[in-house]
Amino acid sequence: MRFGHFDDPAREYVITTPETPHPWINYLGTEDFFGLISHTAGGYSFYRDARLRRLTRYRYNNIPTDVGGRYFYLNDGGDVWSPTWAPVKAPLDRFECRHGLGYTAITGEHRGVLAEALYLVPRGADAEVHRLRLRNQSGKPRLLRVFSFVEFNLWDAFDDQTNYQRNLSLGEVEVEGSAIYHVTGYRERRDHYAVYAVNAPIAGFDTDRDAFFGPYRGWGEPQAVTEGRAGNSRVSGWAPIASHQVDVHLAPGEEADLVFVLGYCENPPEHKWEGPGVVEKAPARDLLARFASSAQVDAALADLQSYWDDLLSRYTARSGDSRVDRMVNTWNQYQCLVTFNLSRSASYFESGIGRGMGFRDSCQDLLGVVHLVPERARERILDLAATQFPDGSAYHQYQPLTKRGNHEVGSGFNDDPLWLIEATGAYVRETGDLSILGEVVPFDNDSGNTGPLFEHLRRSFHHVLGNLGPHGLPLIGRADWNDCLNLNCFSTEPNEPFQTTQNRAGRTAESVFIAGLLVHCAPDYAALARAAGFPGEAQAVAEHAARMAATVLSHGWDGEWFLRAYDFFGGKVGSRECAEGQIFVEPQGFCVMAGIGVEDGQAEQALDAVGARLGTAHGIVLHQPAFTRYHLELGEITSYPPGYKENGAVFCHTNPWVMIAECRLGRGEQAFDYWRRIAPAFREEISELHRLEPYVYSQMIAGRDAPREGEAKNSWLTGAAAWNWVAISQHILGIRPEWEGLRVAPCLPALLEDVEVVRRCRGATYRITIENRSRGGSPRLTVDGHAREGSVVPYAPPGAVVAVRAEM
Ligand code: GLC
Ligand code: GLC
Repeated sequence: MRFGHFDDPAREYVITTPETPHPWINYLGTEDFFGLISHTAGGYSFYRDARLRRLTRYRYNNIPTDVGGRYFYLNDGGDVWSPTWAPVKAPLDRFECRHGLGYTAITGEHRGVLAEALYLVPRGADAEVHRLRLRNQSGKPRLLRVFSFVEFNLWDAFDDQTNYQRNLSLGEVEVEGSAIYHVTGYRERRDHYAVYAVNAPIAGFDTDRDAFFGPYRGWGEPQAVTEGRAGNSRVSGWAPIASHQVDVHLAPGEEADLVFVLGYCENPPEHKWEGPGVVEKAPARDLLARFASSAQVDAALADLQSYWDDLLSRYTARSGDSRVDRMVNTWNQYQCLVTFNLSRSASYFESGIGRGMGFRDSCQDLLGVVHLVPERARERILDLAATQFPDGSAYHQYQPLTKRGNHEVGSGFNDDPLWLIEATGAYVRETGDLSILGEVVPFDNDSGNTGPLFEHLRRSFHHVLGNLGPHGLPLIGRADWNDCLNLNCFSTEPNEPFQTTQNRAGRTAESVFIAGLLVHCAPDYAALARAAGFPGEAQAVAEHAARMAATVLSHGWDGEWFLRAYDFFGGKVGSRECAEGQIFVEPQGFCVMAGIGVEDGQAEQALDAVGARLGTAHGIVLHQPAFTRYHLELGEITSYPPGYKENGAVFCHTNPWVMIAECRLGRGEQAFDYWRRIAPAFREEISELHRLEPYVYSQMIAGRDAPREGEAKNSWLTGAAAWNWVAISQHILGIRPEWEGLRVAPCLPALLEDVEVVRRCRGATYRITIENRSRGGSPRLTVDGHAREGSVVPYAPPGAVVAVRAEM
């Protein structure tokens, strides 16, 4: 069952009922100012940091779900309704929400009045623009009393939801004309404020939540709205809001636009005031002047669309299957950029107060955007490297506002350092920019202890090599990619977090996954070493990698698949000898991606075992059998009921590793089949089961052991975005930048017979036609009409257009 449809030319998902199985959201903002917006206008906004600079209030886990947002109420002669359905939820004659790239437009029609609310964050502005377009489609004149509504958050979102004894006495606003200023905290150390304004004269306003709603009333029936009269309330402490009342007269057929702006402004500390106790409003006045007319909003929307046109023109595919095309050309790339921007901070499953930027998460997110925003990827690599410790290990997270490592979480996740190599390799292969290797970057943000980026990478690699266990495999530390496989934790105390609690200082628990990751990133690291002028290191790396691959085959092979790990006591994890958790997906994917066992058949055996034991209709589950009880020696992974999260769910992040591994063995049919099981556009038809947005990946889909098998959770901010992008674009469609040139090595299913890809890389454009008539096999390449050996097309100079034909 579907709740809407894709509009591919418009690059929008169109939701046609407000009653989706869960709020289906979108993101506004591309730079510093962001908003989360649901299909009924719920959500919130923040500047840069979802915890420390939150502008509007949102209550997670609420009843009813998803109330709180940027709302409009219309009072039409006593008939009260909302164009976005929520919060009044009066029945609408028509409802439509269009989630586009960086904007959302929600239309409601009610008794002859059509109202469209358009929401966007213009490029280059720290503001959300909300345009309300009203049309009288009836035969009689109408007087619509329009009420806007946002509720301010007192900046620090954690404090806002906990520290009531203080906060309820702080709230302050100023009102000037049609602009309402939220200035709480400005009198002390804050030099920033928020403004909510409309480009029309107002009939009244409210800034005090209690006055606006009236005692004991709910979202659907604010007293100011039902009475049709704003109270001109001035908040003092309690809960500051901003609501305008604008009275709109519409003749039959007439249309009117109102433009609202919700902005964030900063003043230099020495120019905070424009009079005694009066906030300096110059930056706000400038901001409001930029979006004072509907034409300016149209221009901002067009500008946003051309920004996306440009970004998405770097990789486009025509495959003959609309589901493939919409994932590849639009939604997967869009999700990659949103995830890169926000890491795991703010979604409908991430509260914006819990997690900063993850080290491994950000490195992997980067794989999905190096082709889109290479300059920002470069900056991110340097920021991440600056949180690395001198010994090569890394803080697991850092705060976006300060860019400092997070002490509460600390370090000790032993896969972290290697992801920096994966990220840098991807960046340099995409851009050819070797200068990044020489950038001088501090360790642990200490300006007294610095080194070129390449030195950071060297320490990353050697941190892992310098911490091997009894079998010669890398020590796992607190955990590897699977945050919940905590082999040194031994926690019996329910009040301590698994991730950060004191671990045993053992040097026995080892990870086969990290071994696979090390071998996988070795070729990139060797190439980077050579480029940085260390040929000896490059040579040594190849030897280290070969030795590690051999170690995996001797101590990390279980007979039919790769082991997952050795625990604290030296016992096997992920072995047929285990009662539960006999086979795990992570080492199968990564070891085969790394090429381990490809020559002698172990790779094929491992992937066959994945298919037979872990493959389900809804994707590949993490392990089988799922753990049915808590295992002290395995940690958090066994804390989840079977089939959920790290205990045997389909973790969509790991599935593409298997797809890539399948491509490595030339099994395109199988790779594509795995992709199809989890790709959201292919799951659209089962939206009632999947429940979450059919246009973006979710972190997990409940596995076969769960009562709700097939139900997704944790959409949007997940490594599933970047890795599925890598799998479909670089391995299944098979176009990927390498050191020597652009590799064109498709590994396609029979379903895709003729595929065209246009790929822009290093300034040149490659028009690639793939003919898949013989259904698989390796491609024969023709480049600009000349046959070419192998599958690599040399990089062409900037501006060149290269025609490539690949016949399978
Ligand atoms: C979450 C984390 C990621 C981790 C994964 C598996 O998605 O953000 O870092 O690898 O869970 O535990
Ligand atoms: C929990 C989650 C895991 C996530 C981790 C981050 O362990 O299960 O997915 O990576 O928290 O702290």
